[in-house]
Order: sequence, then structure tokens, then C-alpha cells
Amino acid sequence: MAKRWVFDYSEHMKILGMETSCDETAAAVVTDGKYVDSNIISSLQADFSATGGVIPEDAARKQLELIQPVIQQALTSAEVSWQDIDAIAVTKGPGLLGSLLIGVTAARIIASIHQKPLIGIHHTLGHLSSTWLERESSPLFPCLTLSASGGHSELWYRKSHSDGELIGQTRDDAAGEAFDKSATMLQLPYPGGPSISTAAIHGDEQAYELPMALRDEKTLDFSFSGLKTALKYTIRDQVDNLQAAQADLAASIQYAICQQLVDRLKRAVELYPDVHAIHIVGGVSANQRLRELLHTVIPQPPLLTPVKNSYCTDNAAMIACAAYYTKKSTGHQERFETSATPSPVFT
Ligand code: KG4
Ligand code: ZN
Repeated sequence: MAKRWVFDYSEHMKILGMETSCDETAAAVVTDGKYVDSNIISSLQADFSATGGVIPEDAARKQLELIQPVIQQALTSAEVSWQDIDAIAVTKGPGLLGSLLIGVTAARIIASIHQKPLIGIHHTLGHLSSTWLERESSPLFPCLTLSASGGHSELWYRKSHSDGELIGQTRDDAAGEAFDKSATMLQLPYPGGPSISTAAIHGDEQAYELPMALRDEKTLDFSFSGLKTALKYTIRDQVDNLQAAQADLAASIQYAICQQLVDRLKRAVELYPDVHAIHIVGGVSANQRLRELLHTVIPQPPLLTPVKNSYCTDNAAMIACAAYYTKKSTGHQERFETSATPSPVFT
């Protein structure tokens, strides 16, 4: 029989969050779901810039090397010891299985040794919670959240911390994946989002016309795979010198990806007029052009983004935050177990 704990929310609660779903090894200490005492992220992205993407076995090996020092650093920089930690939260999926297993196994061992409750958190729920970090007043429900990263692009109608409806999702590639694959075609380094947005600074986003998928369909879904093909043929048919055209191509593909995200959010606001705010989260939410376009095209309701770019991309503070708020709102007792298995976002 698994041991059980009950959370005591009358005291300040410190949660150690852990996130190892892909190519970041991350640990953070967060108090009461919003005060970030430490947020350590060791990214393996430089290791994968030459390969244009993550090699899962290499990522898992790196996670194994880094997990312990990263956790130790999170505790040290938060100036806490194990006694100060009330619970441990870990990403249980989805992600690369080898990488996830390192995080979940480490979390189980630590929870067992230090006798702490252990909470498994869906990676998407982590992203969905990231706009709560370092915000004094909690954002209001219902709200719309676009979660766009390298692994998924989803549109959520959120009713509470522990309830939400998936109202749109990608039918093929994720928005971040579209940035990453386009960057490879433009001979720009991985990850593609930051390298395309940097290259786009001096480019003309109207230079090349790229199509918007599902424009004429009544849907909140996304599709980005056609853009890859369009970009490929644009380069083949219209470009003589890739280096000379790189900035214009980067600006044009960035605009095309962002335009589709903005278009679907605009449709969603019309369908759900009761929302108090639009939240954008996930790696792609760090994109400045996306934020500008959203402000211009959808001035109301207000737009909320994670307060730091390090909370947009994968991090452990969002995992600790999600654990605090969902468990607080559902009042669940915690069981001393979790595993790296797929499960619903809200459980
Ligand atoms: O959320 P995240 O760190 O990991 C996943 O859960 O996938 O997102 C990573 C993705 C990558 O595809 C990366 O190219 C994209 O987010 N990304 C960006 C930017 N920064 C990261 N995309 C557009 N603009 C950015 N500034
Ligand atoms: Zn992510």
C-alpha cells in the first residue's frame, strides 16, 4: 500500500520541481506556486545544434550526468535544505522516454529518501501554468491559452487550474517544429525559433508569400507541414543565393507561422467571448513578432505571456507551479508514486 500525505496549505509551501522531458535538465524551487527561489536549466541544445535536432539516446545520457548537480544547484541557490522542501514535482510525460525516465527515477529516489510527497505533472500542464509564475495576483478564469512548443501546438479553454478543454491542436507539425525544420532549410542553427527570429530582424516579411493552412475551414486546428513544402519550393524556384536571401526568407516564414497562430486565436476569441485573457506559453511564446501581431490584431482581451523568456521554454519552475495550483484546487491527497507514462493533461 502506497504511503499517503495531505498537503497543508496554511503554511508556505516550497516545491522542488524537476523537468527532463527533452533536451533540458532543469530543477527549481518555487514557494506557493509563484515565488521562484531558484530556476536552474542546463540546456543540451548546443550539443544538438550540429545535428539539427535532438538525438534521444544522447539526451538521456546527458540527463543522467546532469540531474544530480542541477538539483543540488537548485537547492543551493534557493538557500534551502531538504528539510525546507514540502513536496517534489516531476514531469511524467510526454517527452523522450529515456530522458523522462531519468527525471522520474531520480524524483522517486529523492522522495523516498527524504520522505516527501511526489507529484507527477503532465508537461503541457506545466506550460499552461507558466504565466502564473511571479504574478502577484492570479490570472482569472476562464481564459484561452495557446501552448506552442517544439512538441505540440494546442489551444485550451481553461476553466480552472484543474480543468480545461482542448479546443484546437495541430494536425501535423508543431509550430516550434516548423521553426526548427525551416531553420535547417535556411542553414540556420537549432533551435530554429531563436535563430530565425534573429535572422529575421533585417528581413522583409512580405518578400516571399507563403500560404496559411486551413484558412477556409471553420476550425481552431493548426497545420504547419505544408509550409515546409512551400518554403522548399520557394527556395528552389525563387532563390539564387541562399545567404543573400536568408533574412527575407526568415522574416517571411516567421510571419507565416505567427499569422496562423494569430488567426486561430482570433477565431477562438470570437467563439469564447467570456474569456478574461489570452495566455501564450511554450517556447514559441518567446517570439517577439508573435507578441506584436497578437497585440495589434487582438487588442482585447489582454495578452499574458510568461514574465521571463526562461519560463517560456522548458523549465522546472512551471512544473512546481502546476503541482501547487492543481493540487490546491483539487485538494487531492498525494501518493508516493508516479511513473513516466502518458496520461491526461488534467488528472
Ligand atoms: O517549450 P519548449 O522549450 O520545448 C518543448 O516542449 O518542445 O519549446 C522549444 C521550441 C523549439 O522548437 C524552438 O525553436 C521554439 O520553441 N522557440 C521559439 C523561440 N524560442 C524557442 N520559436 C520562436 N521564437 C522564439 N523566440
Ligand atoms: Zn515544453
